[in-house]
Amino acid sequence: MKDRINQLKKEKDAVVLAHYYVDGDVQDIADFVGDSYALAKQAALVSQKNIVFAGVKFMGESAKLLNAGKHVYMVDATAGCGMADMVTAAQVKRVKEEYPDAAVVCYVNSSAEVKAVSDVCVTSSNAVKVVKALEAKQIYFIPDQHLGSFVAAQVPEKEFIYHNGFCPIHKLIDEESLLKAKETHKEALVLAHPECEQAILKHADYIGSTADIIKFARTNTANEYIIATEIGVLHQLKKENPAKQFFVVNDKQVCHDMKKVTLAKLESILKNIDVQEEVKLCDDIIESAKKPLEKMLDLAK
Ligand code: 13P
Ligand code: SF4
Repeated sequence: MKDRINQLKKEKDAVVLAHYYVDGDVQDIADFVGDSYALAKQAALVSQKNIVFAGVKFMGESAKLLNAGKHVYMVDATAGCGMADMVTAAQVKRVKEEYPDAAVVCYVNSSAEVKAVSDVCVTSSNAVKVVKALEAKQIYFIPDQHLGSFVAAQVPEKEFIYHNGFCPIHKLIDEESLLKAKETHKEALVLAHPECEQAILKHADYIGSTADIIKFARTNTANEYIIATEIGVLHQLKKENPAKQFFVVNDKQVCHDMKKVTLAKLESILKNIDVQEEVKLCDDIIESAKKPLEKMLDLAK
């Protein structure tokens, strides 16, 4: 199947972009694997006619927003993000009326409609840098309250208003299980994604995006790590560090939407790309929603 997929990519002039949370076999066949920030940058640069996205809906939408001339297809169009669904454009507009001086800082884990009413986007790897670079003193951070608090702690000079969104998967990474894992693996460092709750983050030796966690493990000398984020990241961690050991906190750190992405579906999408439904956004949403994404790329440089 891998040979067929590689052949189809060439025949159909398609590039496959994959997030670290999809299954390892899909990551391995992708042309580019990354965190949300790296994938957004890459999507803006691709030369192929077709982008096939192995990830969730907001990632495909970001690719379309940043490279509207391309055809963007999701490996599984039903793969969404529970957090992205927790905020609507109408809610954002209401809060904007209440806090007219606040800059709306929108985590990329959001719909294109929500981005369209935001001032700037961020990802977990550039949020601190981007927020620091803004002129506004008041920040309305959407939708993730945990990433928002993590950023606020590092930007004390600004005032934060939070939305009440969260990642339903990272919420399942619980303190009791983490303490048990630490007890079992006493030498292990805890590496956590900022979408985790404070009860987890307070035990972390390092907090960062998926790409940052992978980079940390690559360069750190410790031999054991407890990973507090989605399990897909373990694929790259193990591949890059065969002599090191990686442990999960519990058996619930699985984003079922990311796991909808399979090699068989990828092959089928590529084979039938001419008749597939692509990621479609109307022109005025593209016009408004690409601005905060482009601003992020500019401020995060
Ligand atoms: P990254 O920004 O690390 O890619 O995280 C994306 C995500 O969905 C985390 O749940
Ligand atoms: Fe969304 Fe959470 Fe899945 Fe990331 S892990 S895509 S934030 S539901």
